[in-house]
Amino acid sequence: MVKHAPIKVDMEKIVSLCRRRGFIFPSSEIYGGLSSCWDYGPLGVELKRNIKEAWWRAVVQERDDMIGLDASILMHPQTWAASGHLKGFTDPLAECKSCHQRWRVDDLAGNSCPDCGGELTEPRLFNLMFKTFMGPIEDEASIVYLRPETAQGIFVNFQNVLNTTRKRLPFGIAQIGKAFRNEITTGNFIFRSREFEQMEIEFFVKPGTDEEWFNYWLEERLNWYIKLGIKKENLKLRQHMKKELAHYARECYDIEYLFPMGWAELEGIANRADFDLTQHANSSAKSLEYFDDETKEHFIPYVIEPSAGVDRSALAFLCDAYDEEPDKEEIRVLLHLHPALAPIKVAVLPLSRREKLVAAAKQIYAELRQCWMVSYDDAQSIGRRYRRQDEIGTPFCVTIDFQSLEDEQVTIRERDTMNQIRIPIKELRTTLAAKLSGEELFVLPPGGKIWKEGESV
Ligand code: GAP
Repeated sequence: MVKHAPIKVDMEKIVSLCRRRGFIFPSSEIYGGLSSCWDYGPLGVELKRNIKEAWWRAVVQERDDMIGLDASILMHPQTWAASGHLKGFTDPLAECKSCHQRWRVDDLAGNSCPDCGGELTEPRLFNLMFKTFMGPIEDEASIVYLRPETAQGIFVNFQNVLNTTRKRLPFGIAQIGKAFRNEITTGNFIFRSREFEQMEIEFFVKPGTDEEWFNYWLEERLNWYIKLGIKKENLKLRQHMKKELAHYARECYDIEYLFPMGWAELEGIANRADFDLTQHANSSAKSLEYFDDETKEHFIPYVIEPSAGVDRSALAFLCDAYDEEPDKEEIRVLLHLHPALAPIKVAVLPLSRREKLVAAAKQIYAELRQCWMVSYDDAQSIGRRYRRQDEIGTPFCVTIDFQSLEDEQVTIRERDTMNQIRIPIKELRTTLAAKLSGEELFVLPPGGKIWKEGESV
């Protein structure tokens, strides 16, 4: 709950918070970093795991018509000839004749180098796939590619999944995994990097029903971000114009988010029709047809593809959650992250380091971490510790004070409102579970009471 007008989020503040608090570091930083590659630190890895978990839950676990897959990153090189990536996955580049920097033609405003003003060469097509060699010999025959999208792993396994699960249309296959692109223009932190993670669905449907399913997935995916706390006004759908459609797409919309640098793609939803399955069927000489028991027809299904980025989602969730509030003389920085996404769900804070308090707090800590990622903090004043948790988005802090030793009650303090309740320790686990799944803070368990900071019992 934000009590004031939304603040304008600045990318530098997000980068600085991520660096300072251990969400995201530059890759191989001790060697000066590696351009547009990032490492997720102790909090970042939790945020990312939670995003993937929330996605998997929504698109696989809670649905009858979806199953999962985890295909390898390295695939038979013929995959990329068939998919069109060897020929079509290119950006036109122009090179500056004096400083030799290369520029994406789409990003250029004029005919000269944006850096030194030098003359540019004629554009040449540059393939974005990373190449490597399989086995000990580095020759043409051993070239393999790091996948530029996870989707192809799904298409080449279509028959395997069909045969082993006996799924009937419409059904989808979901996959989360790394993808690699030798992007020319990188930047904006984790928005565009060369190694990133995708969460992709290939939803197979009967031709003729594709339009209906396309619209269904647009709505479904937009709502997923809203349910996880992204403000509606920061999301929009943008239809691709004919000339920007990827080589495989009939129709495509981007879900765009209002990032600090402006509106940009968060997820793409494309109607790939029968392009991929037809290409792989032709290229492998294997039938990828589906047999419809009702109509007795054989056909190649159409595919609707909602394709999201884990890293871009993480950036959007962080930007949307970031907030600053006046706090006496200072500023309270906080992340209003949805509890499902918050890296740490609960912080256990003994009021002081006195032995008896620490023992009681450690016992609570040990119990709660069986259920959630919980942190324990006894350093500095309680106010400072609350602020530290606010800044990383921890929804609840549990404070154990001297009174707790007598009455076996503790205080739960909520991040956004800073409201507090006091409840019996024996009710703590169930109460936190209810609050983390959205129950109002002031719904109290037996023996609980509303509590103001600093108030005596
Ligand atoms: N299979 C379809 C496909 O890959 P895409 O629009 O190229 O479509 C899908 O990528 C999503 O993957 C994007 O919406 C974005 O979230 C993420 N993505 C793509 N390139 C990326 C990059 N260089 N860095 C970070 N995320 C990227």
